[in-house]
Amino acid sequence: MSQAPSGTESTSSKNKDSEAVIQAVTREISHIATLPEVTLKIIRLVEDPDSTAQDLNNVISNDPALGARILKVVNSAFYGLPGQIGSTNRAIVLLGLNAVKNIAVAASLTKLFRGGQICASFNARDLWHHSIAVGACTRLLAAKSGLGLPDEAFLAGLIHDIGLMVELQARRAQFVEVVETLDQNPNLTLRETEIKVIGANHEQFGAELCRLWKFPVSFSYVTGFHHRPLELEPQNRRLTCIVHIADILSSRLNLGFSRSVETQEINPDVLSDVGLTPEDIEEVLQKLPEATDEAMVMLQDNG
Ligand SMILES: [Fe+2]
Ligand SMILES: [Fe+2]
Repeated sequence: MSQAPSGTESTSSKNKDSEAVIQAVTREISHIATLPEVTLKIIRLVEDPDSTAQDLNNVISNDPALGARILKVVNSAFYGLPGQIGSTNRAIVLLGLNAVKNIAVAASLTKLFRGGQICASFNARDLWHHSIAVGACTRLLAAKSGLGLPDEAFLAGLIHDIGLMVELQARRAQFVEVVETLDQNPNLTLRETEIKVIGANHEQFGAELCRLWKFPVSFSYVTGFHHRPLELEPQNRRLTCIVHIADILSSRLNLGFSRSVETQEINPDVLSDVGLTPEDIEEVLQKLPEATDEAMVMLQDNG
């Protein structure tokens, strides 16, 4: 479940120079941008086929703040469950191990996106807003396309641009240079500018971070290929195609930082690949602002 992407997909996305930069940068941030220990424990536990709901509940019980955060998420308007859930044990029984794992990871990411105004035209809060919008949109699109997996879809959208946080933490001065270069040159793409200034781009950093965190391989595909999902093998690209569409729709509605989005048009091949129609897209666009607001409230960081 957690092997690195292999074969043509990983070699075509890197060259030797960027590989050295990716390794150096992710090594540096591995001690800064780590997930909380409890979250890593949960990921390991859920990947162990012998673990039980009780094991997961024991881990969460040792961290009351996380337990409270998980209950806030499952009881939120975004989640839309009919009744209130009063304990994490009940949440696990109702939603399943995998869903609670994904919720725990999402709830623990809020702290990673702190940072405020980095330079005149970039605020880390706008990136958080964008990430939440893409998470909410991925979830809506996944439901429409029949993929389901609402928690995994939300988390995939939430982390798709996490490579930008890697740059922000490990190469802040160069990241500012990238943003300022983009301000002056509207025709440049973020990815080509990142390569020029930093030596690697946020897709590459994001995929490497997911490997480092031992996330499921589907998350490495999402972070590593969300701007070019059709370069993945057909059997590996469904979730990444959906995140790619969600990225574009969030940008169309101007929900947060969208300078990384390279086109406002959805490639018809991507749309048919995931079984969505233009009418589905319109419907999701209608629902997206409210779903984003609800998810923002749900993940609000109260310290
Ligand atoms: Fe991106
Ligand atoms: Fe994005």
